[in-house]
Amino acid sequence: MRDMRYTVSIDGSLVRPEDAKVSVFDRGFLYGDSVFEVFRTYEGTPFREREHLERLARSAERIFIDLPIDLETLSREIHEALDASELPNAYVRVVVTRGSGPIVLDPSTAVSPTRVIIVAPVTPPDPSLYEAGVPVISVRHAQSSSPAAGAKASNYLDNLLAQREARAKGAHEAIFVSPTGDLLEGATSNVFVLRDGILMTPSLDLGILGGITRAMVMKAAEREGVACAEGRLSIETLELAEEVFLTSSIREVMPVVRFDDRVIGRGVPGPVTRRLHATYRALIREEIERSRKG
Ligand SMILES: Cc1ncc(COP(=O)(O)O)c(C=O)c1O
Repeated sequence: MRDMRYTVSIDGSLVRPEDAKVSVFDRGFLYGDSVFEVFRTYEGTPFREREHLERLARSAERIFIDLPIDLETLSREIHEALDASELPNAYVRVVVTRGSGPIVLDPSTAVSPTRVIIVAPVTPPDPSLYEAGVPVISVRHAQSSSPAAGAKASNYLDNLLAQREARAKGAHEAIFVSPTGDLLEGATSNVFVLRDGILMTPSLDLGILGGITRAMVMKAAEREGVACAEGRLSIETLELAEEVFLTSSIREVMPVVRFDDRVIGRGVPGPVTRRLHATYRALIREEIERSRKG
């Protein structure tokens, strides 16, 4: 792809975007047999990079991919790509596939994992969405008991189809709901519900991704003195929800004002959501300052 907005590193070497190619025999391509991370930089500082790389390592371990390099080396390669991009506010995607091998399912046939780093300008949602809040839809989804549950593996077909359905219905995001009516997570986000002044979010043992933003928002809630609990949240919880929001590295804290045909709270972003978003941004600022001090 000839697009100068991208900076790409493959297996430790920077390559021009138009030369950024992996083999058709790569299992990432053939089977979605890979793990990945997405995070962003603010004013040149990658936010929570260590947590993202550690999650990448855990995801790889969960699906038995041996990371080809240690996290320090991977971090150096990411910083090399970031420097080359010269972008102060960058989107960073790191992908590690199981590598190439004969076309057989047995993963032991692949020998050498492929690693790809893509840096691009970050495109956060339009500020008007934070002002107005967004509609979301529910999509039924089996609670995952797969060994890969909770790993950030690249097999995103269910998420992609849910996102498609959301867009077709004019919604911003699809929220997966288990067959027994438990809220799980968004197609690319975690979900929080405020009810009776208590912030609640689905627990990780439901097989969902442990979002880095989710963890930071829980920290923000603690700082703000907002009680926060993890557990099972039935979709009925939403009937009396005062506020709902989504979290992800790129969207940060996105207020939800409609869930299917239910209006959430007063139909506008609530005060706790706004406060937690402001505190989340304060945590970002603190990380930028810390990294500047060295
Ligand atoms: C399925 C899923 N859940 C949750 C998240 C949020 O994770 P994070 O806050 O680490 O970006 C994502 C992000 O892409 C995701 O794809």
